[in-house]
Formats: sequence, structure tokens, C-alpha cells
Amino acid sequence: ARIRHYRWEVKYEFKSPDCYRKLVITINGRSPGPTIRAQQGDTVIVDLKNSLLTENVAIHWHGIRQIGSPWADGTEGVSQCPILPGDTFRYMFVVDRVKNTKSVILLTTSLFSEFVDFYASMFLFEFVIINAGTYLYHAHYGMQREAGLYGSIRVALPTGEAEPFSYDYDRSIILNDWYHKSTYEQAAGLSSIPFVWVGDPQSLLIQGRGRFNCSTPGIATGFCNATNPECSPYVFTVVPGKTYRLRIGSLTALAALSFEIEGHNMTVVEADGHYVEPFVVNNLFIYSGETYSVLITANQDPSRNYWTVTKMVSRNNTTPNGLAIFNYYPNHPTKSPPTVPPSGPFWNDIEARVNQSLAIKSHPNYIHPVPQTSDRVIILLNTQNRINGSVKWSINNVSFTLPHTPYLVSLKENLLHTFEQAPPPDVINGYDNYDINAVAPNVNATSSNSLYRLKFNTTVDIILQNANTLNVNNSETHPWHLHGHDFWVVGYGRGKFNVSEDPKRYNLVNPIMKNTVPVHPYGWTALRFIADNPGVWAFHCHIESHFFMGMGAVFEEGIDKVANLPSSIMGCGDSKRFVKP
Ligand code: C2O
Ligand code: CU
Repeated sequence: ARIRHYRWEVKYEFKSPDCYRKLVITINGRSPGPTIRAQQGDTVIVDLKNSLLTENVAIHWHGIRQIGSPWADGTEGVSQCPILPGDTFRYMFVVDRVKNTKSVILLTTSLFSEFVDFYASMFLFEFVIINAGTYLYHAHYGMQREAGLYGSIRVALPTGEAEPFSYDYDRSIILNDWYHKSTYEQAAGLSSIPFVWVGDPQSLLIQGRGRFNCSTPGIATGFCNATNPECSPYVFTVVPGKTYRLRIGSLTALAALSFEIEGHNMTVVEADGHYVEPFVVNNLFIYSGETYSVLITANQDPSRNYWTVTKMVSRNNTTPNGLAIFNYYPNHPTKSPPTVPPSGPFWNDIEARVNQSLAIKSHPNYIHPVPQTSDRVIILLNTQNRINGSVKWSINNVSFTLPHTPYLVSLKENLLHTFEQAPPPDVINGYDNYDINAVAPNVNATSSNSLYRLKFNTTVDIILQNANTLNVNNSETHPWHLHGHDFWVVGYGRGKFNVSEDPKRYNLVNPIMKNTVPVHPYGWTALRFIADNPGVWAFHCHIESHFFMGMGAVFEEGIDKVANLPSSIMGCGDSKRFVKP
């Protein structure tokens, strides 16, 4: 195993990813940021320099389980304090590694800090990659992810090990949606009374490139330039006859997407770092926080180019489709295909989306046996609510807020006064009579920063139950992401989860493991995981505004097994006391 060492500088720059100029958060000048490439078992070190001048930052390594390094998860309020701009501290860690028999790597940390005269603070993330596959990274502070702070992590198998499929070339792209309003304006709107919703994204980006129509009325002169090379479409060049592994990640702020390459089928082979039983699709539905690998063979008429299209689904919307060019070498890469881009599935075709969710099963040779029973069942009812006139999202009528002292520090150091101690309910009072198809008769909820404490090494079932929003006949799609774990997806269903009947239909034979999963409108999704990773882990809707409005929960397990915390994660709230002046 090797050490992969990255030095990143995060800052704001003016960019025009969809031809419209706005402030974008870049890493070393780029958005999407640099791809982390590693091999299973490698150690990744990222030195992060916050040059945002007036803003904190934190970066989460999405899909990396952080076994033995929960403090490197990068989740502000959960695993660390935010990284401050303009700090003059530099933190360094010395890390020794001990392998146990299960080849799980435990880190013991000794650390020292020293004064260094920097303009920005340096923060060092260090963690071990456990699984080969496709992962992501992104900001986990405020709403910075949608300002452009994201990228991909590609983890190869150890040398000599083979995948259960073959291809000639390996490529990665990230799909995203893009707003012209700043994250501040959006966040202020979400917290205002009356509520101000930002509306549909202005464009969809494919690998950081999109195209906004610069002749849209109301665009101030000088802000939009259709000939800016920064917004020329992304080009995916292929050699006729070759097969490509395309790793696709979605980090949309809001949109559920359909991804399609005109005239080409895709064979889905990987989901969130796990091999799937291959299945063929014409379009791939992908939700924020998910990754897939698909195989595409360049087997169509090579004398022309083809369209690559992303389309926003699940909400009625006005966002134009995202376009990229699937270029057959040696045609000119920017030559427009001679056809009209495919129009994609209807936005409200729920059935097609549910069917694709159901098609994702574990590859038969890579089944991680799922425990046949569970020790605890937590039913999380997802609702939209009002608290003192603000619009919020709640889980079992609790709208989640982050504490000022990171849970990891509070729990490890017994600062239990820093968050509400009464845990949220495992099932909401009156669940049996709750009508998920109607607006709730009482839409009030409470907000809280309490968390679920899980008994170490127990098996936990989570049922995500969707419901109607504050508007009649409306239920949204929510992609839920769990930190620190992969879970088995044991079932999806329509309507309301039946506690005695539905578990009998769980797939306990070959369920896929994932870290992000959708709960479809008016439906439920059932997950199972083993609480075997000491730490404190966020579980939340990956729609950025939904998490901001309270759509999340936090789990603690095995806190007593967490090694000494590095002081670099401390310094805010009550964790100040651990940082020596
Ligand atoms: Cu990719 Cu907590 O998120
Ligand atoms: Cu959501």
C-alpha cells in the first residue's frame, strides 16, 4: 500500500461553467476538483488550505468508511469543527498503523501542533481506503457543495486482482445541477419567513460544463458569454469498437437525473463501490450522492458524433437538459451530432425509476451475506413541516440541527451538555394512523440536535418512509446517504410500510450494498447495516437544501473504541477547551 499525498488550496474564483459568470469554489483552480486516484489499502493524505478569505470549510470523503479514522470524515458539526480562514495554526499528525486480523486498519494518533505563519489554516485529512470502486468528495459545510467544491475518488483493486468485467478504457464524470444565485442568497431564502425557494436550477452540468442560454431576458450585460471556452460542452472521445468503463457520480444540489447516450446501451456493473449483477439500460437514473460504473461499447455508425444527455426528473421543472458530446474518433470533437438530442423519460414516470432501483442486485460472486435478522428497527417518517412559520423537513417530527460542538468530541470527551440528550423516537407516535397520502393535519414539528445511539456490533434496520409534502398531491424523491457504512438495500415498496408483512418480502439473498439510496415518492426503502464502525455518523437526505432544512439524523456507535482525537478537529463550541493557546 502506498501513501497518496495531495496539497489542495480552496478558494473562490470567477468562473463560467454554463457561460454565466459567478463565484465558484475551486480546488487548485479547478471545479470539479482534482480526482483522487488510489489503490485499495492505500493511505490518502490531503493537506487542505482554506483560502476562502471569509468563509469556513470542511470536505467529506463520500463513500469512504473511515474505519479507525472517524475524525477524518470531514463533516462539520459531526466529526470536526469547521476549518477557519485566515488562521495561523498548522496542525500535523504522526500516525502509526496496526493491522488486525480482519485487515481493518486502526490508527493511533499522536500529534503536535506548531505555529506557522500562514495566511490560511492547514487541515490534514488522513484515511485508509478499504474498498475498490467509485466515490466522491465534496464540501460538508453550509451549502458550499453547490458552489462547486466537489470531485471524484477512483479506487483501483490491488495489483493482480481482476474485476468481474472487462473494458479497454476507464473514465469518470460527475453530473451536477447549477444555480446562478449564491449559496448565501439561497440559504437566507430557505430560512426566511415567508420561505423563499430558489426554484429550478438554471442548468445541468456534465463534468463541470453546461450551457445557459445567454439571450435569456434579464441577464445583465457582461455576465454571460456563449463563446467562453469554459462552457464548451464536455467531450467524451471514443475509438470505434472499444469498450469504456464510465464511472458516473451525481452531486446535484436538488435534481434527480436521467443520463443517456444517444443510440448506445449501457451495462451497469458497479454501484457505490459494489459490483452489481450486470443489467442493461437505455437511460440511467442517478440520484445525488450515488455512483455507478457502466460499460459502453462504441459500436454505432462511427462517421458521426452522438449526444450525451442529462435530464432532470422527479419534479416538474423548467431546467434545460444538460448536453455533452459522445465523439467517435477521428470526427471533430465539437462537431454537433446531426440529430435532435433524445428527450429522455417523462419527469413523472415513477414506475421506471422504481424498476431501476429494484434491478440493482449484488453480483453473484461478490455477495456480502446479509444478517437474516435485525436487533433494532427504526422507522424514519420523512415529512415537510412548519416550525414558527419556517418551512422545514423532519424525521419523525424532528427537524435536525447541527450542534456547535462536534458530536465526536462531545461524546468522546463527555461534554454531554452540548446537545439534547433525549434521543429522537424509533417510530413516530401515531405512526399506525398517519396518512402518508395527505397533507398532515398538524404540520408542526420541533427542531433538535439529538442523536441515535446504537449498540456496538448490532444489526439495525432503517425504514425510510416517504409522505406527502405541505402541498396536496406532492411527494418528492429523497436520496439518503449514510456516512461510515455501506448498508444492504433489503427492500423498496409503494405506499405505507407494513411492519408485520413487508419484512417478509425483503431480499435477504443478494441485496446490493450502497451508501446512498433513493426513497421514491409515496414509497418506502428498507436498509440494514451493522453498527460496527466506532464513531459518529451522519445520515441525511443528499439534497443540499433538504439537509439544510433539517432532513437528517446522526448515529453514534462504539464511541469508547475511538482512539484519541486529533486536536485539529477541535476549537469550536465547547471543544475550545482542548486547544492550547
Ligand atoms: Cu455526500 Cu453527508 O454527504
Ligand atoms: Cu430530500
